[in-house]
Amino acid sequence: MKIVVIGGTGLIGSKLVNKLREQGHEAVAAAPNTGVNTLTGEGLAEVLKGASVVVDVSNSPSWDDAAVLNFFETSTRNLLSYEATAGVGHHVALSVAGTDQLSESGYFRAKIAQEKLIKESPIPYTIVHATQFFEFLKGLADISMVGDKVHLPAVLFQPMAADDVASAVGGIAVGQPTNDMVEIGGPEQFRVDELVRRRLAILKDHREVIADPKALYSGAKVSERTLLPGDNARLGETRFETWLTQSAGTARAA
Ligand SMILES: NC(=O)c1ccc[n+]([C@@H]2O[C@H](COP(=O)([O-])OP(=O)(O)OC[C@H]3O[C@@H](n4cnc5c(N)ncnc54)[C@H](OP(=O)(O)O)[C@@H]3O)[C@@H](O)[C@H]2O)c1
Repeated sequence: MKIVVIGGTGLIGSKLVNKLREQGHEAVAAAPNTGVNTLTGEGLAEVLKGASVVVDVSNSPSWDDAAVLNFFETSTRNLLSYEATAGVGHHVALSVAGTDQLSESGYFRAKIAQEKLIKESPIPYTIVHATQFFEFLKGLADISMVGDKVHLPAVLFQPMAADDVASAVGGIAVGQPTNDMVEIGGPEQFRVDELVRRRLAILKDHREVIADPKALYSGAKVSERTLLPGDNARLGETRFETWLTQSAGTARAA
């Protein structure tokens, strides 16, 4: 089966392409540096020829409110339109657990807009809502700075390894479209501030992490359970401590 992975050079995309190829599928990594740009439409007609499934795990290079909204709206519109012409039978998109409740955030307004376009399109789809990746904990600190300190709400979340995200998305991509949302998450719950504090300490990043009840998550107010997946979520196996012993966890850049 030919499966085009939009964002196939990124964190999740590169793992997904490898996993699909190991299973014998023709997985094609599509991204600007492979000649495919969903914002401009460049290369889309060619790469989608003969594709049964498209998996969109791309992300906007800029997270400014206007830029990220433009990225997800324009690229999703382009993608769905080229997919319709090419006869693609399943559009899979990766989004974030809790997205619907995070509309105060510019990033999440863009994800909501992406999901709306997918649901309104005639192409059969599955939207995958994943919890935060372990690999994103430092990035979460970076977007939560107030002055020189990291301010985070002490709410619950259930993060997961990027490798488990890619495995789950791969399984969904080769399955039937659900025309619905599927949730995936990690095996354990933590408090956001605690895990980011632990991660920064391991990385020898000396920024102080403050548990701040007024702190926003990516620009949105969150309550105790906003970021948790629902009871029916499929859970990845990799625990945080196990991930730390793997190469991704020990890499300074992650
Ligand atoms: N971070 C989290 O904790 C989390 C949790 C749940 C869901 N998600 C979702 O997971 C998805 C993937 O995240 P990620 O961290 O794997 O992303 P990433 O590593 O930043 O990769 C983004 C990919 O998108 C590609 N891309 C950028 N502009 C493009 C364009 N105009 N046309 C085609 N491709 C383009 C990039 O290509 P180049 O490298 O060539 O620029 C790269 O391959 C996102 O949609 C995000 O919302 C994230």
